[in-house]
Amino acid sequence: MGPGTLQSLLDHRIVFIGGKGGVGKTSVASALAVLAARRGARVLVISTDPAHSLGDAVDRKIGNRITGITAGVWGLEIDPDEQARAHIRSVSDHMKQLAAPDMHAELDRQMALAAHSPGAAEAALLERVASLILEQRDNYDLLIFDTAPTGHTLRLLSLPEAMAAWTDGLINHNQRSEQLGKVLKHLTPSGARADVPTPFDEPDSDPFAGMETRTRRIAETLLERRRLFHRTRRLLTDPQETAFVFVLTPERLPIVETRRAVDALRQFDIPVLGAIVNRVLPATADGEFLRKRREQEAVYLQAIEQDLRGLDCIHLPMLETDIGGLDQLDELADALAGTGLN
Ligand SMILES: Nc1ncnc2c1ncn2[C@@H]1O[C@H](COP(=O)(O)OP(=O)(O)OP(=O)(O)O)[C@@H](O)[C@H]1O
Ligand SMILES: [Mg+2]
Repeated sequence: MGPGTLQSLLDHRIVFIGGKGGVGKTSVASALAVLAARRGARVLVISTDPAHSLGDAVDRKIGNRITGITAGVWGLEIDPDEQARAHIRSVSDHMKQLAAPDMHAELDRQMALAAHSPGAAEAALLERVASLILEQRDNYDLLIFDTAPTGHTLRLLSLPEAMAAWTDGLINHNQRSEQLGKVLKHLTPSGARADVPTPFDEPDSDPFAGMETRTRRIAETLLERRRLFHRTRRLLTDPQETAFVFVLTPERLPIVETRRAVDALRQFDIPVLGAIVNRVLPATADGEFLRKRREQEAVYLQAIEQDLRGLDCIHLPMLETDIGGLDQLDELADALAGTGLN
């Protein structure tokens, strides 16, 4: 069964907005929040963009803590690099409790290296996304993630084992003990499939009974993390719960990129609800120049229909000015409502 149509977008509890740089992800995420709030929902918009553009779109200072934007709308800007540092710090602190004091200097060195390893920021960011979802889904009716999920990120999102591997590797690297090796083996169900419930989903089970205390604590940390990823994945792959939406503009490169991303998501069994075509020239825009632009645009709008076959699309108009506050967001929210969004 397909994921439904864009009309049902605001019926979801979690919405991911993706798309190429500059197409209007942050603007659309904020306008969707405004629209949902008008209808009585409590909405949290979470930006994972280090450039902090959410604050600009809503004309408020936000930053790395949940901040009120307007009635029913809150925002949060996560800094991926800071997140990676914080993550490494917490793993490091944890390791220090477990390692002998003469190992601490070496541990610090290893951790500093790990902070710069490929994928560190990405993995830390995804872990934050995962914990935010579980922590905040009861506090808000709707969580909107303003993000640009690349193929690689999506692979991690869709494979809790792959996400866990990063942390496991980090810890394992610093704690090469035979016993820990056994623990890690024990944690990885043989022939594990991400879509099958595993012992880690069972909070009451105690797979570590009889282990030495130190090893047991490491194992418990790893287990906790895997439970987090498993639970998140289950939510993200549930089309009733989560909607993935792409924003694009009627231009060649955004179309190519959107198609690629949609295909990648489908490959990981994450259905895409639809695409929002932003900055479409409004019918009221006139003059010879705009008439020519509109002809060009019509070609791309047709290409979108062809290339994104089967994907539900709605159009949002190009506004007279940039989106720099609640006035324009209201206008964009009106346009969203006008497309028949539930
Ligand atoms: N419908 C629109 N009408 C007019 N201006 C728009 C519209 N949508 C977006 N913009 C403007 O286009 C620029 C890019 O929009 P936005 O920041 O929302 O894109 P983005 O996809 O989030 O970008 P980034 O990839 O950098 O995060 C901004 O200046 C914004 O004000
Ligand atoms: Mg943005």
